[in-house]
Amino acid sequence: MDFGLGKKSALVMGGSRGLGFAIASELAAEGASVAICGRDADRLNSAAGRIGAKGYAVDLSKPGEAGKLVQNVISDMGSLDVLVVNTGGPPPRKFADADEQDWRDAFEGLWMSSVGAIRSALPSMCDRGWGRIVVVTSIAAREPIANLALSNGFRAGLHGMVNTLSREYASRGITVNAILPGYTLTERLIEVGVDEAKISEQIPAARLGTPKEFAALATFLASDRASYITGQAIACDGGLLHSI
Ligand SMILES: NC(=O)c1ccc[n+]([C@@H]2O[C@H](COP(=O)([O-])OP(=O)(O)OC[C@H]3O[C@@H](n4cnc5c(N)ncnc54)[C@H](OP(=O)(O)O)[C@@H]3O)[C@@H](O)[C@H]2O)c1
Repeated sequence: MDFGLGKKSALVMGGSRGLGFAIASELAAEGASVAICGRDADRLNSAAGRIGAKGYAVDLSKPGEAGKLVQNVISDMGSLDVLVVNTGGPPPRKFADADEQDWRDAFEGLWMSSVGAIRSALPSMCDRGWGRIVVVTSIAAREPIANLALSNGFRAGLHGMVNTLSREYASRGITVNAILPGYTLTERLIEVGVDEAKISEQIPAARLGTPKEFAALATFLASDRASYITGQAIACDGGLLHSI
């Protein structure tokens, strides 16, 4: 299948490792010109070098940075056709343990960085009459997970924004979708010492997902072939979510 990404430009936020890097790698392999961002400059430069991407050292949790990043990418690449919104996850908290600053930090990191990047990307996509916005959320947005109050709340809200945007921009050739990772074996999960065998027992597929499997979904939604799919929230979770 020709995904039609050969002449497209793409930005994958948080693309220096994990799910973001897997998506950036697939887009680059499809021939897209790819930009990625992250905070750790060494990790970023090494990741960018491996896939021929351009790296931008940015902290997305700082107010205004996501919007500025998109403007810089458009000015360097000449356009932005594909925006993959992906940020670091907020720390685990029960509602009772989250203070006001936790909520404000998660609001900037998860919510305002998404809004800022999308707001900056839309005018260029509208001008060209073509755009793909793919927002990485979590299965926690549909079935809240214990101890993840910050993620559960903001990510469910992002699904509302994705659906709203899809309606406002479908007639301009722009699709907007959310993709929900289930338990996927990224560096972060390995670092936090996730108990793979125990988690696998809950998953119908009886194993964790791979970043490459998740990236395949993102790449399809970013492609020309997915032109009539918009406003959706699609999980890649080995069958874990039960809700219809
Ligand atoms: N993996 C899973 O099973 C899973 C399941 C559900 C949801 N998710 C969510 O999916 C997202 C990606 O997960 P992942 O496992 O790929 O995480 P990861 O391995 O920690 O990668 C996160 C990426 O984002 C960058 N990043 C983090 N915070 C940033 C910031 N403030 N500014 C700029 N870049 C930032 C990181 O680079 P730097 O650290 O250098 O900045 C890295 O490139 C997260 O939001 C996570 O919560 C993951």
